Amino acid sequence: MNKTTNEIRSNFLNFFKKKGHIVLPSSSLVPHNDNTLLFTNAGMNQFKDIFLNEKKRPHPRVTTVQRCLRTGGKHNDIENVGYTTRHHTFFEMLGNFSFNDYFKKEAIMYAWELLTSPIWFNIPKKKLWISVYKDDKESYEIWNKIIEIPPDRIIIIGDKDNIQYNSDNFWQMGDTGPCGPCTEIFYDCEQNTLNHHLDTFEKKQDYLLEIWNIVFIEFNRISDTKIIPLSAKSIDTGMGLERIASVLQNVLSNYKIDIFQELIKSISYFSPIKDLNHPSFKIIADHIRSCAYLISDNIIPSNEHRGYVLRRIIRRALRHGHKIGIKEIFFYKLIPSVIKIMEPFHNKLNCNKEKIENILKIEEIQFTKTLDKGLKLLKKEIQKTKNGILNGDIAFYLYDTFGFPIDLTADVCYEHKIKINYQEYNQEKEKQKKKSSLSNKFYKNYNEAIILNNNDTCYFQGYQKYKTHAVIKTIFIQNKEVKKIEKNQIGIIFLNQTSFYAESGGQIGDIGKLYNTESYFKVEDTKKYGNTIGHIGKLIIGKMTINDHIYSKIDTVHRNNIQLNHTATHLLHAALRCNLGDNVAQKGSLVTDKYLRFDFSYPKHINLSQLQKIEKIINLKIQNNILITSQEISLKEAKKRKAISLFEYSYKPIVRVISINDFSIELCGGTHATRTGDLGYFKIISYSSIASGIKRIEAITGESTIDYLHKIDHDIQDISLILKSNNSNIKENINKLIIQIYSLEKQVKQLQDKTNKYQIKKLIEKIEHIQDVKILIEILYENHLKTLRTIINQLKNKFEKGIILFINKKDKNITAISYVSKNLINCITAKKIIQELLQKTHGKGGGNNEMAEGGGINIQKLPLALQHIKLWIHKKILNQ
Ligand code: SER
Repeated sequence: MNKTTNEIRSNFLNFFKKKGHIVLPSSSLVPHNDNTLLFTNAGMNQFKDIFLNEKKRPHPRVTTVQRCLRTGGKHNDIENVGYTTRHHTFFEMLGNFSFNDYFKKEAIMYAWELLTSPIWFNIPKKKLWISVYKDDKESYEIWNKIIEIPPDRIIIIGDKDNIQYNSDNFWQMGDTGPCGPCTEIFYDCEQNTLNHHLDTFEKKQDYLLEIWNIVFIEFNRISDTKIIPLSAKSIDTGMGLERIASVLQNVLSNYKIDIFQELIKSISYFSPIKDLNHPSFKIIADHIRSCAYLISDNIIPSNEHRGYVLRRIIRRALRHGHKIGIKEIFFYKLIPSVIKIMEPFHNKLNCNKEKIENILKIEEIQFTKTLDKGLKLLKKEIQKTKNGILNGDIAFYLYDTFGFPIDLTADVCYEHKIKINYQEYNQEKEKQKKKSSLSNKFYKNYNEAIILNNNDTCYFQGYQKYKTHAVIKTIFIQNKEVKKIEKNQIGIIFLNQTSFYAESGGQIGDIGKLYNTESYFKVEDTKKYGNTIGHIGKLIIGKMTINDHIYSKIDTVHRNNIQLNHTATHLLHAALRCNLGDNVAQKGSLVTDKYLRFDFSYPKHINLSQLQKIEKIINLKIQNNILITSQEISLKEAKKRKAISLFEYSYKPIVRVISINDFSIELCGGTHATRTGDLGYFKIISYSSIASGIKRIEAITGESTIDYLHKIDHDIQDISLILKSNNSNIKENINKLIIQIYSLEKQVKQLQDKTNKYQIKKLIEKIEHIQDVKILIEILYENHLKTLRTIINQLKNKFEKGIILFINKKDKNITAISYVSKNLINCITAKKIIQELLQKTHGKGGGNNEMAEGGGINIQKLPLALQHIKLWIHKKILNQ
């Protein structure tokens, strides 16, 4: 009989336990030691520092089953999910790791033994192919001489584009970090392969499924060009559980394996569609697992970062629910099925069941309100497209108004063989970000088109003067031009001249006041409307009328902070180009009083040391206290001086150029600090990749930096207090704690094993015999379900023919677990025993013929129910 996925998972761990490995738990989907990684995407992530010799190894040999997510980060498989047989967002990776212990020979021999030994996975040797890295002669020899794989089934893989180590058989965790050559094992999926053997790799390629990757971690990549050998050689292997299950269960798709079939069956209860091969079933089945684990790992749906990835996955799944005709709120109802298929291994899900269900339910209720409407609109637009491309503004409208994540829209378009104009979509998104500044609450009330009819001209005096005398030219309230504005009214005031800078070139608008002796208008934002500048705000005192003489006075603290960040943006732009090359091009910028955000094109990852180098250059320029100059010169002259200009701008013949020595020369209309020293200190606070080839840096200057550094000091102090250590040895103490945890976990496990052994001895004494059937019905106390399962597994061999039923009381919870040996299931099954018990005690549960579990048992009903169950079992045995 084929092995179940759960059996494969435990077989793997048991095999490596037998080879001297300790089993460590999966780490969270949120990497705790690597902020360059959005989600854990490989088994080795949690051991990165051990490979690099920066952290002590918990044991020389370790094995894990790691939950992984491949979406929204470097590895992004979401678009393929459902449409291929192999892709997942969430999957489990089986891995064995050696930290400076065994190396190539043992790693290869272990993998081979597990895959081919008749007592383990028993895969016919002829079904397996091997690949090795071109320079890795040692592995080749091991495969060929020791394992005796014929040379025609060992494929040697070289480098791509002649770049050293740029190869499918040289594994790297990321742009930097542990790496090394690898050897991969492939399974030949061609059905009649044993008698119809295609001889060359090229002909075979389409049939070969990579099942196991064995990486020889020998190097640390420091940068694109620098790779250094590690003092310790280690092993990192990875085998996708769902893939190996598809091989061992002899099905051609991961979605056909037992656990997915069970999950798909649960989804089908909600849908009128009977064809369970429909991609939507696979997508929902894949996505519900991701969602369950993400929420269990404390991610909640939101509009940014990891939370947005979760939201996107949920919404994509809901759209597919809609597609297969599901009419009710269903997604959260799949959680019990997910728990059922995954529980044997990860009981963490069950502990978070209520939280996961609640969050999913709320998300679904919210999104369902707009899903239908959005889809109708999208379908109409798709019908209208002529060149097979959906306009980016439609995709943006769907995102903005109906909450359609872009990949949901892309998914629908994909089904209609239509592409999205992503450039247009990104431009719309960027525009909206700028709009949603402080003034949003005012801005929303205004129809820009009406205000743009206004033919005023306003002279900006605010480069030099923070206060300007001015005359009111026009007033708008609620899209109407009016003669006056009164107390508490919100409106836009236009002047003949002003000190207020209107939002442009990424710099946000000024705030401040318009006033005279009788009245005061509070300016909340400033925007450009054609040739004029609108002061958006509220009249606080008195009233203002057309032709009134007033003063325009900006909030100088606000403006100064903006200026520091604007100058910092120029320094950053120049430092990036000077470090990473002239191909760095600005793609977007936001300069506020609190921070700056700078988006730019750069194809590769920028590591921490590169970022620190950039930060240092900027701070040295700040220390040099360079005078910042602005000049109006001809465009021709500016070009001659190689001034940086902005991507989408068309310039007038005379341009304004901001220079910081010759380090930075940039065309710019914004306002700036007087000298670089005014910035105080420049600090990068975040770095991310926002789209393919586009990076984002956020940074702060001036007082914000002091607050930021103080916060870090406080955090470190708090951590020191918690750890009872001083600041200098925090890292050491955390490492010690981790090792202590590993060792305590080991001790707990040993104690638990001892207690189990004692408990088992006592239980064996209580076995009853009816005919040749052994029966054990017992009430136990204070055990976890997992422990009960372990006890049953250990007792099983004493029950060649027998029945076990344990009732367990822990706190207020009463649970039950039952086991029935295979040779009895024609007469009685574990599932029936549990059902019979639960019926009498108002509990809930389920399981299969051999093993079943239940909970929520009513204590008052238990004694009678137990009596009944004992009699019922006896009767069944006697009648068998
Ligand atoms: N780290 C390697 C991979 O992810 C092997 O585990 O393929």
